[in-house]
Order: sequence, then structure tokens, then C-alpha cells
Amino acid sequence: MGDYTNMSSYYDLIMTSGYYDYNKIVDALIQHQPFSHVLEIGCGTGLIMETLAQRQPQIAITGVDLTQAMLGIAQQRLQTYPQVQLLHQNVTELNLATLYDLAFSYGGVWYFVIDGDKQPFLVSHIAQDAPNRQGLERVAKHIKAGGQLLLGVQGPHHDYARPVSNGMLYSQKIELAEHGFTKHYYLSDGDKTLMAQTIEYRTYAFADALEMLQGFGFTYQPYSGDKPQFLSFTKS
Ligand SMILES: C[S@@+](CC[C@H](N)C(=O)[O-])C[C@H]1O[C@@H](n2cnc3c(N)ncnc32)[C@H](O)[C@@H]1O
Repeated sequence: MGDYTNMSSYYDLIMTSGYYDYNKIVDALIQHQPFSHVLEIGCGTGLIMETLAQRQPQIAITGVDLTQAMLGIAQQRLQTYPQVQLLHQNVTELNLATLYDLAFSYGGVWYFVIDGDKQPFLVSHIAQDAPNRQGLERVAKHIKAGGQLLLGVQGPHHDYARPVSNGMLYSQKIELAEHGFTKHYYLSDGDKTLMAQTIEYRTYAFADALEMLQGFGFTYQPYSGDKPQFLSFTKS
């Protein structure tokens, strides 16, 4: 499972050193308005929710995440935003009291990779097939008919090393596996490794992903133009 405990205390440093552009992500979310109740699946340390809550204070936001250490940081970050609720849940057992008009995951449990003109493919933090389907079923139960599911888009993954804002070195290494890939994340300071984390990802070809999502009532809304921040699905 996609446990981020090892990375949690360095996560914000790495992500805000250019890994993700949180304003751009929230710009894209806002384009999908109107919505009043939003669920983030795999909300991590709350960086997206904070930006969304600042820019759209009238929206009720729920964030769920599997990793308590990530949620602890989100709790601190978001303590002055009463409209944000954080819950420690695995998406495979998602159980919330609210129905949402929009749910999204950005780099969270599920995301798409788009590499130039090639077909997108789905990446999941859940390595086995059955719990992926269980998770999507649980998400579907929490979205209103006519509501939206947005899954973030990332570029192709590759091995690299680059400095983060305080001069430490972030690096990642990808190994192909039978049903996806394994990604190793590292942060080092000189010759000292401060953080090492390994996640096993499952991948689905685009047609298989669309079929799986359609099976839970999510119909793909094709995009046109430049590479989007999210691929969009409407819930029947
Ligand atoms: C790369 S982080 C993304 C965090 C946040 N969305 C952001 O953009 O900064 C992935 C998050 O997904 C969470 N996650 C992975 N598998 C999960 C699952 N099965 N259920 C809930 N959360 C999960 C991890 O704990 C981690 O916090």
C-alpha cells in the first residue's frame, strides 16, 4: 500500500521545490465549478486543500489519507480552516457521512500519466487489482449522480536527482514490475541519506482504466487542447 510515513517530514520541502505547482492544480479544480462539497482522496499534508480553502472559502472540503504522519502535518496546516475536515481512512474502506459533488485525487491514490502523443495510462498507489476496484466502488458511493471525479495528470516518470530549495538532493529511481513499476524516493544531505521510501505502483492501460471506471458509473469526458491537470469523469 502507498504508505508515505518515511517521506512525510520531508514531503513539503520536496513538493514545494517545483515537484508540483499547487496554484495551477487549484486553478484547474476551480474550472470545474460549481461544487460545494469536495473530497480529496490521498490528501497528504494538505497543500492542495490549503490553496483551495484560501481561494474558495465557501467550499466544504474533506481530505482522506492512509498515512497518519501526512495527516498530522495537514492537521497543523489547516487548523484555522473550519471548512476542512481530515480523516484517516484507506480509500478501499472509504466511509463518509456526506455525498460529494466533486472528488479528486492529484498524485494521491490514482493518477494518469500522459507522455506526449502516447495513450495516457492510469497509475495507482494500490498494487493489487481487487482493492483498486474496491476503492473505486467506495468512491463511487460517495459522489452524487451527475457529480465529478477528477484524476490528476503527471508527465512520464524517469530516474533523476536534483537539489531542493535548501540544497539537499532529491532523487528517484524507477524499476519496471510485472503489473506496473516500483519507485524509490531518496533525500540526501551530502553523503547522508535522510529519507528513503519505496512504493509499488500498479498501472492500467487507458482502455482498461476507462472500462474499470465505467464499471463504477464514471464516464470519461475527453479533453481537448494542451495537456490538462486532470482527466475528468462524470458519475451516473
Ligand atoms: C504523492 S502524495 C499526494 C498528496 C497530495 N495529494 C498532494 O498533492 O500533495 C500521495 C498520498 O496518497 C496517500 N495514499 C496512498 N494510498 C492510499 C490509500 N489507499 N488510501 C488513502 N490514501 C492513500 C498517501 O498516504 C499519500 O499521502
